[in-house]
Amino acid sequence: MKWWQNAAVYQVYPRSFNDSNNDGIGDLPGVNQKLDYLCDLGIDAIWISPFYPSPLIDGGYDIADPRDVATDLGGLEAIDHLIKNAKAKNIKVIIDLVPNHVSSSHRWFIEAVQSAPGSNARKRFHFQDGKGENGELPPNNWISLFGGSAWTQIESSDQTPGQWYLHLFDKSQPDLNWTNKEVITDFDQTLRFWLDRGVAGFRVDVALGLCKDMNYPDDLNPQKRVDAIRLDLYDPMNLDSSEELRKFLIDSPIFDRDEVHTIYRHWQEIFAEYDRDVLGVAEAWAYPTARAMEYAKSLGQVFNFDFMVMPFDAAILAGTINQILETSIEYKSDPTWVLSNHDASRVVSRLGGGLDGLQKARSMAMLAHFLPGSIYVYQGEELGLEDVLIPAEERKDPIWINSGNTQTGREGARAPIPWEIANSQSSEPHSTLNLYRWLLQLRKDHPAWQVDPSQTTHRVDGARLEVARGASVRCIVNTSDKPIDVPTSVGEVVLAHSSSLNEVKQVAGQINLSKFTAVIVENSGM
Ligand code: GLC
Ligand code: CA
Repeated sequence: MKWWQNAAVYQVYPRSFNDSNNDGIGDLPGVNQKLDYLCDLGIDAIWISPFYPSPLIDGGYDIADPRDVATDLGGLEAIDHLIKNAKAKNIKVIIDLVPNHVSSSHRWFIEAVQSAPGSNARKRFHFQDGKGENGELPPNNWISLFGGSAWTQIESSDQTPGQWYLHLFDKSQPDLNWTNKEVITDFDQTLRFWLDRGVAGFRVDVALGLCKDMNYPDDLNPQKRVDAIRLDLYDPMNLDSSEELRKFLIDSPIFDRDEVHTIYRHWQEIFAEYDRDVLGVAEAWAYPTARAMEYAKSLGQVFNFDFMVMPFDAAILAGTINQILETSIEYKSDPTWVLSNHDASRVVSRLGGGLDGLQKARSMAMLAHFLPGSIYVYQGEELGLEDVLIPAEERKDPIWINSGNTQTGREGARAPIPWEIANSQSSEPHSTLNLYRWLLQLRKDHPAWQVDPSQTTHRVDGARLEVARGASVRCIVNTSDKPIDVPTSVGEVVLAHSSSLNEVKQVAGQINLSKFTAVIVENSGM
């Protein structure tokens, strides 16, 4: 059994997690200071979003040097220290790898811009001549995920037109050419650099995007191609449109091409040089689910983002759970459950905000923790935080800027963690923090959580979703805005419930489940 199969992984977005030296920026010594908090929470590993030197155009996902740590985050010394201390507390450290692109301030890109068309320096990227009489048009109609053309023209030093380079994201994030030998070997070096320092694994950014159709064909619907992987654009109230959108991930000249797995199988050989199991977890929102599971096969694990786009609806949740479990069993890979991350609205906000949003989010958490497989918790999710409204003039997300201020961007979910809230929740018995602690504890200690995923069954009755693991434990979710009565059998007792108001009552053979809440009941065999 691999360590990650049932693991609870906590995502740290370092600049907004914890600031150790009061310069206004969260940092790695700040993460180190919170190791006891994370230990008490009960997680197995932390995944740290990029901490590399970066101009921070895209929150650090624009990396200037993948083998270093930004000075304001504490430098290499700070990550070494963190890995060591985390290890002493039995917490593994996973880091973020961004193989699809680098920052335009990476030495390679600077060199490429200064070099001639066709040079080795340019071949590390996707440089192409433009179309049109004077090369004034982009090589094709591909679109950037952050809006506008996926190509930007550089200035040229002589009279010839400047070439264009490909960037699936911001123009400050040129895509690497993964058919280039140097790109491959340099990345090997990056992997070994971090593995030698003791990391337990890697979260692989845009794992489905590395290999492009090298003929660079025009696409029939370039906008839909990129919208399909923008989770922040999914409309949970319109599932048909979401399903239609996801189909654009099939047969794309850019995403989820078969060749990409050759790269990951090669990485596996590097992982195998180490005497420990190394996790690769892919950010690969591919379609259908079986395509996504290919990444679990070639890397170790793949995020399942379904819960991040689903409405709070018993039948729809049941359908999703069913599909994920079936595919996971078929692929012999334990599922992953994700309720939120740094790219999407916080789960409470997504589900409507306020007390109702909170109750729904807590039920979703209970359900996700109940299901077999591993769970990813985004910092602040365990506090039931909502998105913070960022004033328009302070927004820097390229999504906001490149969309001409029409798409809000992701900064609302990236606000600094209010640690005073964590402190006060710590001593409130029904706080979201204590719910997470309890759920994480159950995952570790309770025998029902050790049963094989194939023992998971579910049924739906109106707004009531019921999932069972083996014969003795079941989780019931009330997705309606009215209380429901759930019959219980003799010997069944409430193990945990999600109501922040402590409103779940068991009387005379039934449980009264208030609106939007969930409960886990156990048959104690009495
Ligand atoms: C991934 C990251 C996102 C980033 C993008 C480009 O989707 O999660 O934050 O903007 O890749 O690196
Ligand atoms: Ca700081």
